Formats: sequence, C-alpha cells, structure tokens
Amino acid sequence: MKRKQVIGNWKMNGDLAANRRLLDELLPSLAALDGVELAVCPPFPYLAQVAALLEGSGVALGAQNLNVAAKGAFTGEVSAGMLGELGCRYVLVGHSERRSLYGECDETVAEKFAVALRAGLVPVLCVGETLAQRRQGRTEALVSAQLQAVLRRSGIEGLAAGVIAYEPVWAIGNGETASPEQAQAVHRHIRDLLAQHDPARGVATPILYGGSVKADNAAALFAQPDIDGGLIGGASLEAAAFAAICQAA
Ligand code: G3P
Repeated sequence: MKRKQVIGNWKMNGDLAANRRLLDELLPSLAALDGVELAVCPPFPYLAQVAALLEGSGVALGAQNLNVAAKGAFTGEVSAGMLGELGCRYVLVGHSERRSLYGECDETVAEKFAVALRAGLVPVLCVGETLAQRRQGRTEALVSAQLQAVLRRSGIEGLAAGVIAYEPVWAIGNGETASPEQAQAVHRHIRDLLAQHDPARGVATPILYGGSVKADNAAALFAQPDIDGGLIGGASLEAAAFAAICQAA
C-alpha cells in the first residue's frame, strides 16, 4: 500500500525564531501520525537549524533547489552534496517559480533531477500548466513535455525513484485550488504516461498535488485515486493548518 506524502514548501519565508515556534507547535501534533511520509523544505540558510529541530520527529528535511555543479565558481549557489551533508532527503526541482522567475527550462530541470538522484537525494519534480496553457487545452501536452525531459535524461527507473508534484500554476498561492476532479484528471494522465514506460513503476511513483491546498480541501483532494498527497506552500507556514492537512492524508 503506497503511503501518502505531505511536503511543506516554505518558499522564501521564516526566520530563526519563527521557525522554532512553528516546529515547536507542529511536531507534537504530528507525533502520533503514522502511515504518512512528511517533510518540510525551509530556505537554504535555515537547513541546519530545521534539521536539528526535526531530529527524532520522523519528519524529513528537504531543500527547494540545487545547482548541478558539484563545486566551483557559482556565486550564491548550493550543490547537491551540500544539501546531503546538511541532512536533506528531498529536493524540489523545477518549481514553477524557478521556471518562470529564473528561466529554468525542461532540460535544466531534468539535469537537476539527475544530479539530485546521483547525490542520493529524492528529487521532487514539479510540473504544471499556466492558466493560458489550460485555456488553450495544452495542459496534458505541457505536463507530458516536462515529464519526458526527465524520462530522456534519467529513464523511467530514475523518474520513479523521485516524487512528482503536479502544481497548476494558476492555483498556486491564490486560493484558486484545482477541483479534486481537475487535479485527478491530470494525475491520471501522469500515471498513464509513466505506465506506458513501466506499468509497475507507473503505479508506484508518488504523485502529489500542489496549489492552494488548505485544511478544508485536503481530504477531498487526497481521496482521489491518483493523488498521493500534497506539496503545500502557504499553509505549511501555519502549524495548525499544516497539521490538519497532514492528518487528512
Ligand atoms: O510548492 C508548493 C506551492 O507552490 C503551493 O503553494 O501556497 O498554493 O500552497 P500554495
């Protein structure tokens, strides 16, 4: 039985005091929660602090990005090896904000995915369409292209070693959650594409939904047959809200 997964993406938020307050309130409410794989992804500067706060909690640490180089003259960047040394288990790759604000194309994302795998991290591949692309009927083609770039680089075995997060760009950060039916339709498309390469891995690969997941909509989303959990932005910064989402998984 595949375990549900909930990952909190803190984005560029938090500070040392707020991080401690959040986790001091959140972790006790998750202690009795088994059967769900949990992780939080703080900004780079707080990885060491959050790793220490998560110690023994069963909640894993993740990062929000990585550079494909192992080391060198890449000012401001962070390598997969550094993330691993700090205790990261997961790393987000291809988040829509990286694609739109920092020009990450499908091939760049595919390379980051491969480097994360090689470093022993679990890459969380973020895919999803803009509202314009959805209105043009291009959702499935766009998502397929994002997945196929990783399949070309890492194969189905590599892709299945990661996690996929479908995040419709038009639903991120604005309360415009995709309906469970809308999300399920794209998750089913992703699952079918994976199954064309390897039926067993198609079933086994976790596909999370992200985009305005809240305490009051999480259960309906997670009840969908091909939604294996959530990638949570804003609500992951509020202990009670994030705990409620994790408990709904
Ligand atoms: O990576 C998760 C994020 O993009 C979703 O953000 O605030 O809509 O939950 P939010």
